[in-house]
Amino acid sequence: MPITVILGAQWGDEGKGKITDLLAAKADVVARFAGGDNAGHTVTVGTERFALHLIPSGILNPNATCLLGGAMVINPKKLLEEMDGLAARGVDVSPQRIKLSGSAHLIMPYHIALDGAAEAARGDGAIGTTRRGIGPAYTDKAARSGIRAMEMLHAPGVFAQRIREQVDEKNVILAKVYGQPPLEAGAVVDDYLSYASRLRPLIADIPEEIASTLSSGGDVLAEGAQGTLLDLDHGSYPYVTSSYPTIGGVMIGLGVGPQHIQRVIGVVKAYQTRVGAGPMPTELGGELGEQLRGTGAQPWDEFGTTTGRPRRCGWLDMVTLRYAQQINGLTEIAITKLDILSRFEALKVCVAYELDGEQVEAHPTDLTVLARCRPIYETLPGWGQDISGTRTFADLPKQARDYVRYIEERIGVRAAYIGVGPGRVQTLCR
Ligand code: GDP
Ligand code: IMO
Ligand code: MG
Repeated sequence: MPITVILGAQWGDEGKGKITDLLAAKADVVARFAGGDNAGHTVTVGTERFALHLIPSGILNPNATCLLGGAMVINPKKLLEEMDGLAARGVDVSPQRIKLSGSAHLIMPYHIALDGAAEAARGDGAIGTTRRGIGPAYTDKAARSGIRAMEMLHAPGVFAQRIREQVDEKNVILAKVYGQPPLEAGAVVDDYLSYASRLRPLIADIPEEIASTLSSGGDVLAEGAQGTLLDLDHGSYPYVTSSYPTIGGVMIGLGVGPQHIQRVIGVVKAYQTRVGAGPMPTELGGELGEQLRGTGAQPWDEFGTTTGRPRRCGWLDMVTLRYAQQINGLTEIAITKLDILSRFEALKVCVAYELDGEQVEAHPTDLTVLARCRPIYETLPGWGQDISGTRTFADLPKQARDYVRYIEERIGVRAAYIGVGPGRVQTLCR
């Protein structure tokens, strides 16, 4: 069977990790196609919880080979830490199981320093990045000065020289633009030579790996990071990430043609969350927002997997979901965290925006326009009972089934999976 894509339909953290883990049971290959360790994908297996940042969420299924695609940006230190953390928990992270595209760009210490310095300089206009060096690494890629993973295969002297040149150049920017201390080139070179010696065996030709899997009839799962509204082109620019979490990113990121893509599953949280700055029309302040977020006592409460920041929470926004459907050509959706809505007697869903006295149905891409939009809500009855033990769609309370059908009808896409808890078994497959 060809490629199944799993991508975020909102502002990230929709539960892509959990859905990827579930579908990975039947996949030969699971391939991350975008982003870097700004992502935090949680997989819960029994009582064990794994937070993955770079390694695809298929790693917990022993039969799946995990690929890190060429459009990713890789912090080698973080990748090695993640591999070591998994190995310590008995997960096989040998080069047979994890392969890294030589085209992926390396995140360097100066990218992290520049990310932090640029955010500080933006003051009140800060994007709220994860400060993982993501934006500066993609900037270097577009400027054609980035260092790619395949350079770790070059002679150590050549690799070292590239690093030294880049550190020297970035030190000028750090000092002159941001008044920051310089980085010590020798220390960066030593660190990166040691990362290279461990990561070299992982480097592989990812388009070739995917092509050979497809030609031998294998299943490929393409795992997205971030979400549609964080897309560099289609999101609420400039409050976005610097990569392409949308469907186009799959072809670029993995080097594969569109004819192989059979299913595009948009992961949709049953309500809306966002971390970082930028407009969010349905954001709820006060008690309702707190009720959605939770206190942090539960691992699935709305605090970032990567940064621990509290996520901004609000009611489900159908305007953004219709937009995600349009941009990605979703064939299905997976609705996660339906169980969280059990806390409410009545549920609101944003069906359109009010903009300067007019009703708008289409998602405005101009940030200043989006910031003026006010949600127009419809109210649906809640179900007021715990659904986390439910194992079939038919066993859900009627109001919960109606909530799912309401979403399906309004975006014209079937909900193939419904999450009622973080565990593997807590996903209803229809
Ligand atoms: P991702 O970045 O899209 O993979 O999502 P995250 O892992 O950052 O955030 C989703 C959070 O919700 C994690 O803590 C998951 O374990 C949890 N989660 C996923 N699906 C469900 C669900 O259906 N119910 C509940 N309660 N938690 C879920
Ligand atoms: P997963 O894959 C939620 C957000 C940041 C910030 C913006 C830019 O777990 O869904 P960056 O560090 O990428 O330059 O930050 O993007 N962001 C995410 N929000 N989930 C993510 O990933 C995110 N990755 C980046 O909070 O607003
Ligand atoms: Mg996440």
